[in-house]
Amino acid sequence: MNSPLRVDLGPRSYDILIGHGLLEKAGSAIAPLLAGKRVIIVTDSTVAPLYLARLEASLDAVSLKLDQITLPAGEQTKSFAELERLLDKLLSLAPDRTVALIALGGGVIGDITGFAASILLRGVDFIQIPTSLLAQVDSSVGGKTGINAPQGKNLIGSFHQPRLVIADTDVLTTLPKREWLAGYAEVVKYGIISDAPFFEWLEVHGAEALAGDKQALAYIVHKSCETKAKIVGQDERESGLRAILNFGHTLGHTLEAEAGFSNTLLHGEAIAIGMVLAMKLSAMRGLCSNRECERVERHLKAVGLRTRAHEVTASWNTARMIEHCYHDKKASAGGLTFILASKIGKTSIFHGIIRSELEALLAHEL
Ligand code: NAD
Ligand code: GLY
Repeated sequence: MNSPLRVDLGPRSYDILIGHGLLEKAGSAIAPLLAGKRVIIVTDSTVAPLYLARLEASLDAVSLKLDQITLPAGEQTKSFAELERLLDKLLSLAPDRTVALIALGGGVIGDITGFAASILLRGVDFIQIPTSLLAQVDSSVGGKTGINAPQGKNLIGSFHQPRLVIADTDVLTTLPKREWLAGYAEVVKYGIISDAPFFEWLEVHGAEALAGDKQALAYIVHKSCETKAKIVGQDERESGLRAILNFGHTLGHTLEAEAGFSNTLLHGEAIAIGMVLAMKLSAMRGLCSNRECERVERHLKAVGLRTRAHEVTASWNTARMIEHCYHDKKASAGGLTFILASKIGKTSIFHGIIRSELEALLAHEL
């Protein structure tokens, strides 16, 4: 294990542990942080048969009383209906406020479990054990929790920081190739938003991490979490800087909503296309060169990600997509807010992007 990274948030600070074989040691890392002796693991139907027993054994070894709840796998689980079912199951286990929830799974499980933890008995502790690349490099860190609404993605939620994040890179070996790539899109995001040398490193070595090279993998998880921890440490509730983490997300979320939050387009896949669109919008506004834009697209394509909306489906509805953008929580009076790039490694927040700009952007894409 590398030395832990720290998310510095005063009394809400916590460590991110990254390395091999951490699932087996999870119990001894978690036990000292707990107010009580009881934990409830929340996981999904794909991850449970793979990793639940190992986590349970490690919690048993430190004499924690444990229960587990398994939710269906997939984005559709981030719904009111599943949240209600989860809260009902949690309450039927008669927890008190010293209980801690453990999210064992990808971003879906992390988001819904964190949200449930934030409202159960007016808030209980939770621990993130992310098992997808996307969750290890992004969603498990920073305390954004929530579910989707019919009106859009992540529109219901809370900020609720975990007490600990345990990213065991060994568990990624069972992740389907498509999920690796979806997570990798968020890794590339860190290079584009604030770290040009990391982007360059990814251009040369990214494929090694995706092929499972342990060192390269540990490096990209560490580097991504380090950048995210630094940004969240400065702006926990997204009053400014943290918004750059949403690079590619407004249009990405819109594409996801258009695809019905389904398997047609995974979150990270949507972000890859959304990032290319955000680069193009940056170029259209004269902020960055077409060359920078092409470079981002070239790298995403080279690793096997789709970069154009029409590669997913030919039937996007431009007017509806633009409406979705206005429903996205980053919309405000006077136009839309986008994170745009002046070059790879430098992004800023821009307000007042107007409908006709998006129409022009999407006219070439759909
Ligand atoms: P996910 O949780 O649906 O996981 C993807 C799939 O991989 C699922 O089928 C899951 O069962 C499976 N899986 C997970 N770990 C596995 C493993 N080790 N082996 C085999 N299969 C495994 O999706 P995700 O991509 O992890 O996360 C996407 C979600 O994260 C979206 O809802 C997105 O909005 C959210 N997100 C949240 C934040 C945040 O800051 N809270 C940031 C980025 C994304
Ligand atoms: N993924 C965006 C954020 O955590 O702020």
